[in-house]
Amino acid sequence: MRLPLNSAVNNLQLSGIRQFTNLAKQTEGCILLTLGEPEFDTPQHICEAAIQSLQAGDTHYPPNNGQEYLLQALSAYEKKNSLFYEPEEIIVTCGATEALFMAFMGILEQGDEVIIPTPAFGLYESIITLCRGVYRSLDTRQSQFQIDSEQLRGMVTPKTKAIVLTSPNNPTGCVYNKQSFDIVAEISEKTGIYIICDDVYSQLVYDDQFTRFVSSYPHLRENIIVVNSFSKPYAMTGWRLGWLMADKSVKQQLQKIHQYNVVSVNSFVQEACVKALDTDVSFMRSTYSRRRDFVYQRLCEMGLEVNYPKGAFYAFPNIQKFGMSSEEFCTRLIEEGKVALVPGSCFGAQGYVRLSYCCADKILEEGLQRLEKFLSNL
Ligand SMILES: Cc1ncc(COP(=O)(O)O)c(C=O)c1O
Repeated sequence: MRLPLNSAVNNLQLSGIRQFTNLAKQTEGCILLTLGEPEFDTPQHICEAAIQSLQAGDTHYPPNNGQEYLLQALSAYEKKNSLFYEPEEIIVTCGATEALFMAFMGILEQGDEVIIPTPAFGLYESIITLCRGVYRSLDTRQSQFQIDSEQLRGMVTPKTKAIVLTSPNNPTGCVYNKQSFDIVAEISEKTGIYIICDDVYSQLVYDDQFTRFVSSYPHLRENIIVVNSFSKPYAMTGWRLGWLMADKSVKQQLQKIHQYNVVSVNSFVQEACVKALDTDVSFMRSTYSRRRDFVYQRLCEMGLEVNYPKGAFYAFPNIQKFGMSSEEFCTRLIEEGKVALVPGSCFGAQGYVRLSYCCADKILEEGLQRLEKFLSNL
């Protein structure tokens, strides 16, 4: 006999993205356009810095929130993006994933509501569930994936504790406009709710002037928690490194969660992180930008309705006209078309599929050709 596990854990599903990726991997010859995993390897000089740190014996417990030199480098780096956080307002984390966990755990009491503009990265719902909060989806499908002010106002209740802003967005590639930001700021100002800014794609923006939320509303600083990551811009997904920034009054509480959960990130990667922050990643950005245009053009040629992505490395075409659920569409696409996309349902949005274009050009070209053939046979 054994007593039940925590029901919040029991009720969680494994990541849908991983499930479809696994199905694709078991299908011989299938091309994967599922993961947000850059095809690039981490630039060599970043790897060398970690090797040197190891060789120099940098293998002891580092300070909980990160080495002072890294916190200073992060503070200086974010200052260049008009985000003003002192080193003592930053925590180096195990990816943005841990930073998000810390943010939700630090904010939520049982039953507190979090508004998530949807489609959204599935991780938020899972963490909110684990923290015994309530996930409330704000459907942005009818408003070009922007936040509609009346809709948002109508969702705020006395239980609302936070809203998440992901810009550029996973899975849509959209960037929030000023109206979307303004309404969130207005509500936060009135009610005191927290705004969790998931800025992991903020370095991957391809055209217009791009503004991060916190730089436009510095008076809301106490309400804002910024989450960022080394994963995507520096092709460092496997290093599991990110950072959290918050007003000192908030950060000082949140750091307890980090301390008791992971103690700190690895010691010998921290010099390498400084090197990463100094790395010019414009070649990766221009590669993604070129692919973005290619993917958009190809999807339009196939007759798919799709928003022109402004950042990240995803396109999110509408597949409603084929009269299938997004899961059925993706399962058939894997089995019949030998190419894998992720169903919109994994992001809380039926009727769409996510295509990731951070893979090599040849794979992308072949994958799109297969998609076109599959669609023409439907
Ligand atoms: C929007 C968003 N936030 C956070 C993460 C997690 O990033 P990390 O690798 O830093 O944990 C991802 C990863 O795909 C993401 O797409």
